[in-house]
Amino acid sequence: MNGEVNYQWRCSRCQTLYASGEIRYTCPRCGDGALLDMLPDYARIRAEWGPSRLMTDDDRSIWRYWPLLPLNDYDAGRHLTQATVLSSVGWTPLYRAERLGKTVGLNNLFIKDDGRNPTASLKDRASAVVIAKALELGESVVATASSGNAAAALAGMSAAAGLRCVIFVPSTAPEAKIAQILVYGATVLLVKGSYDQIFDLCQAACREWGWYCRNTGYNPHTAEGKKTCALEIVEQLDWEAPDTVLISVGDGNIITGLYRGFQDALALGWISRLPRLIGVQAARSPSVYHAWRSGARDVSPDRADTLADSINVGLPRDGFRALRAIRETDGFCIAVEDKEILEAMTAVGRLTGIFAEPAGATSFAGLFSLTSTGKITPDERVVVVNTGNGLKDVKSVSFTLGQLHVIEPTLTSVGGALGMR
Ligand SMILES: Cc1ncc(COP(=O)(O)O)c(C=O)c1O
Ligand SMILES: [Zn+2]
Repeated sequence: MNGEVNYQWRCSRCQTLYASGEIRYTCPRCGDGALLDMLPDYARIRAEWGPSRLMTDDDRSIWRYWPLLPLNDYDAGRHLTQATVLSSVGWTPLYRAERLGKTVGLNNLFIKDDGRNPTASLKDRASAVVIAKALELGESVVATASSGNAAAALAGMSAAAGLRCVIFVPSTAPEAKIAQILVYGATVLLVKGSYDQIFDLCQAACREWGWYCRNTGYNPHTAEGKKTCALEIVEQLDWEAPDTVLISVGDGNIITGLYRGFQDALALGWISRLPRLIGVQAARSPSVYHAWRSGARDVSPDRADTLADSINVGLPRDGFRALRAIRETDGFCIAVEDKEILEAMTAVGRLTGIFAEPAGATSFAGLFSLTSTGKITPDERVVVVNTGNGLKDVKSVSFTLGQLHVIEPTLTSVGGALGMR
């Protein structure tokens, strides 16, 4: 395929189709809460590109899927996506987790480790595509509201592309995430307010000063970037869908992205069915969970005081599409306690060598809970997505560290501490 991609946007609420160039953010008819899905030109893509072409493609990043990305002019950012940190976004490892699988009674358990992205979270997928779009549109300033990871990702990708980046984060965001953003040279506004307040503030600032807004659950390119995670899972499983995917949910944009990726793979005939998507929320930030349980089609504001800062969201901005992803894949949603999240973090570390941040460990807390109640059966092919690296938030985990041995620098002390004779 050449560097030009034809696609449309479809409103997730009123189903209206728009030409790609007509859209900046949300559905003009329905307003800000109406997110748009990309509708690729499947017939053309299917005719010109697919698994056999990918087999000989040595690009190991999200850009290997560019015909499915919402970029009108892929060539606009090609030099940057091939020669900067943007080139290493995605193609994260999919591990077979045998020891963890045995512990929870699963024979086919896999972990997709998205903590392995350049800024250490799945958000790089979204920010990279947003930056490519910003370059295509000739924007010079990008901005986002974020609990931390999306901001670090946008700041990193902006630094790679040489764009100015303005970040709105809650003043309670973990230090490591703020440090990351500062190191990447972004302007950081630590806002004394909740994530929900800063989301609106960032949007207003973008309107006021004409910046390109990356806000999750507003800019339609974020979920389309995140869908590459699902495309990779399908390819890494040799063009088969898993049976079940577990993913943590805050705003609902990641689960939407995964759904979009599996939808594309199904539409192109790469897989024969959709996996069921299981959304895992923190019980202390349960808006999507409550909506799903009550059968509602949309979310309502709820409490938000979980220690898993990345999913601490009172009003999920992509809740409508998150519920759709769960419903249309015959999946479901559960909620786990903060204590279960911390326990999962150390259990996963010990059984796999993967250090997940609290929001990443939330998917695993869901795994422990569902396998103990038989809601996932032994032979299902299950993928758990780790969405972020644990080094981003070491404060929460320090409460769960086992016994630390403080000793004198002598062999006797070593022996004493370890119970050796
Ligand atoms: C590490 C991590 N996990 C999970 C999520 C949840 O994603 P979403 O808010 O799109 O549901 C986020 C979002 O910030 C995140 O950073
Ligand atoms: Zn609409």
